[in-house]
Amino acid sequence: MKNRIRNKIGRTLCVISILLIASLLSACGKKENPQEEPDPGILLGFSQIGSESAWRVGNTNDIMKKAEEYKISLMFEDAKQKQENQIAAIRRFIAYKVDVIAFSPIVEDGWDNVLLEAKNAGIPVILVDRDISTEEEGLTTCLIGADFYQEGVKAGEYLIRKADSLGLDRVNIVEITGTVNSTPMRQRQAGFADAIAGDERMHVLESIDGDFIKSRGAECMKMFLEEYGDEIDVVYSHNDEMTLGAIPVIEEAGLVPGKDIVVISIDGGQDAIDVLKQGKINCIVECTPRLGKEVMETVIRLKNGETVEKTIHPDEAVFSDEQDLTKLGPRGY
Ligand code: AHR
Repeated sequence: MKNRIRNKIGRTLCVISILLIASLLSACGKKENPQEEPDPGILLGFSQIGSESAWRVGNTNDIMKKAEEYKISLMFEDAKQKQENQIAAIRRFIAYKVDVIAFSPIVEDGWDNVLLEAKNAGIPVILVDRDISTEEEGLTTCLIGADFYQEGVKAGEYLIRKADSLGLDRVNIVEITGTVNSTPMRQRQAGFADAIAGDERMHVLESIDGDFIKSRGAECMKMFLEEYGDEIDVVYSHNDEMTLGAIPVIEEAGLVPGKDIVVISIDGGQDAIDVLKQGKINCIVECTPRLGKEVMETVIRLKNGETVEKTIHPDEAVFSDEQDLTKLGPRGY
């Protein structure tokens, strides 16, 4: 039955097109740790959120490159920032009887039904990058992604050190948050709030949803400046994209980002690192998009019937004006 379905023309075309993209990508890069005895039979269905940020594009490229290196056939679907597209993609993966499903959930809620369908079909599911919240336990096998709470903590700890070094006795903070109800939004906010909670100088004036998008980052910054003007000491932005949207708005208001307003960001893509080096961003907490290697190795383990770690967090750094950044190499995304 499985073999018959695998011969369906639609699926074959889809896999061939993905393999073509993957071989084009491989022509541009050297293989790292290729699997020695590849199992050409593994088919992975991957639903990506979209392409809202440089981080997301870097993550997509890494997933495709690693699938090719590990000789895993990839059915890749771009949800264009819509949860309903992700749910439809997962249903297609189930219909095609892929071996493993992986997806980066745009928000935490609303996955119970489709994941129950995957479970009933006997297909293991890996969460990549973001977490979910379900009523029933055991609908997914593991989560491979950053510790967003710790990222928020690192941002808060940097701010306390910065306030000390500037001798500030009151710190007015505005926060541009990521997509409402997404794991990075919730946890980056909570980690930051907890880190500064014991410091009486810290005051979060307002948090506005910037949806992880550059244009929204600019809009949020405009609203903050209209409301609070030069009372603002710090912008804490949940990703580089929104930070890069906010910086020109600060400049247009006649203020100097990095000096008049301390700017704290998360991710660490090349564009933001360049702006950090120019002194317009003070601190970037790293969030790495390079999750592909762990994903592919986990796919192989699941296909072999092995148990896998429940949570895998990559190691992540902090880049800031406290360091010599001249030796920081290219970021690759
Ligand atoms: O989930 C990871 C976040 O999503 C990254 O920080 C952001 O840039 C992306 O859009």
